[in-house]
Amino acid sequence: MEQIRVGIIGTGFTIGIAKSHYDAYQKCDKTTVTAFYDILPGRSQAFIEKHKIEGVKACETLEEFFSMVDAVSLCIPNCFHADMAVKVMEAGKHVLVEKPFSTDVETGRKAVEAAKAHPELVAMTSFNYREQCAVQYMKEIIDSGVLGKIRFIRHHGGGGRIADSEKVYLEWRMRKETSGTGSLADFGAHMLDLSDWMLREQCGEMVTFTGTTVTSIPERYVIDPTSAAGEKESDRKAPVTNDDTATFCAITDKGVMFSFMTSRINFSGAEFEIVGENGSISNSDKWPAGTIGMMLKNAPVPGQTEIKFGMTPVPIPEKYLGEGTKGVSHYGVICEFADCIANGKKPVRDLERGLYIQQLIDNFAKAAAEGRTVVAR
Ligand SMILES: NC(=O)c1ccc[n+]([C@@H]2O[C@H](COP(=O)([O-])OP(=O)(O)OC[C@H]3O[C@@H](n4cnc5c(N)ncnc54)[C@H](O)[C@@H]3O)[C@@H](O)[C@H]2O)c1
Repeated sequence: MEQIRVGIIGTGFTIGIAKSHYDAYQKCDKTTVTAFYDILPGRSQAFIEKHKIEGVKACETLEEFFSMVDAVSLCIPNCFHADMAVKVMEAGKHVLVEKPFSTDVETGRKAVEAAKAHPELVAMTSFNYREQCAVQYMKEIIDSGVLGKIRFIRHHGGGGRIADSEKVYLEWRMRKETSGTGSLADFGAHMLDLSDWMLREQCGEMVTFTGTTVTSIPERYVIDPTSAAGEKESDRKAPVTNDDTATFCAITDKGVMFSFMTSRINFSGAEFEIVGENGSISNSDKWPAGTIGMMLKNAPVPGQTEIKFGMTPVPIPEKYLGEGTKGVSHYGVICEFADCIANGKKPVRDLERGLYIQQLIDNFAKAAAEGRTVVAR
């Protein structure tokens, strides 16, 4: 089979999600990575050397880069997603855009328009949490209807990579103009995609929105924009202009409450809990690896013979373990991207999906900024 030649734009210096894309393309049997491009000279070459990558060109210009690829992953700051996606599609290349889709709906819309103008191209948003094994099992349970009518959802998530205010400098994701909202968009994009994808059919569409955000670390050292390693410029600090912690809540048109909490400054206790009239399920780091929590009121949970009060760990079936990711966070989403390109299919996680989740983020951000409930039109 002819291989899809893939390039990655934005080889990275903060999280560097480009490495997860590269690893997933390496595992995918339909793709070969041929080129990297980064706006900062030297950064792609440094990426190649750091990860001992062979046979991939660090391109100095976008023209050279486009001449070497059929499909492109965008691993660049949120503010550049839409313009670069348009450029990629105008060059005749398929595109996989990282989340969150944009900084706001208005900025992102042009990429959706470009995708409509190029139906021959595959254009996707990288909502890669869908392949997590616990998520796959939870979706099976929800779809089976065993939980009965869903009453509410509690979804908490985040991280701690940027918690150290002295050692982690003022990254693009800490500024509104380059990131949009902060933690709300960063983790919220995944949480909202999962909640809506898994529960929309039973619970309806989110229609009223409230939110509260806070910036607990108000300033950081400024990064030297010419430094490939992302060193600090001096001892000068500048303001963080978006949130690092957010709570937000929506009610659907069927009257179900979705409650979210996210933080990126030492979050622990991630949990995704779905509460129904006949039982509950929960994906949380408090459950042993390879299990989810489950409680059923009228039947034993899988693997048990008696009804027990309270949540019990239930093993995730073998068929889901490792299958979606093969140990690489972006394997599933990249396989779908490659499959759509190779077989002329339309992706489920298309750019309109990215823009839809961006609209939800914007609604929560507006509610937080204005201190009121926002109602979707
Ligand atoms: N799906 C996930 O789980 C996940 C995880 C982390 C990050 N992300 C997303 O991936 C994207 C990148 O995040 P990151 O942490 O890897 O970024 P990063 O800071 O590590 O790297 C971004 C790179 O883009 C380059 N760049 C900036 N503007 C550019 C342009 N116009 N053209 C070419 N290169 C440019 C920078 O020089 C830098 O090397 C963001 O949208 C982020 O939200 C997704």
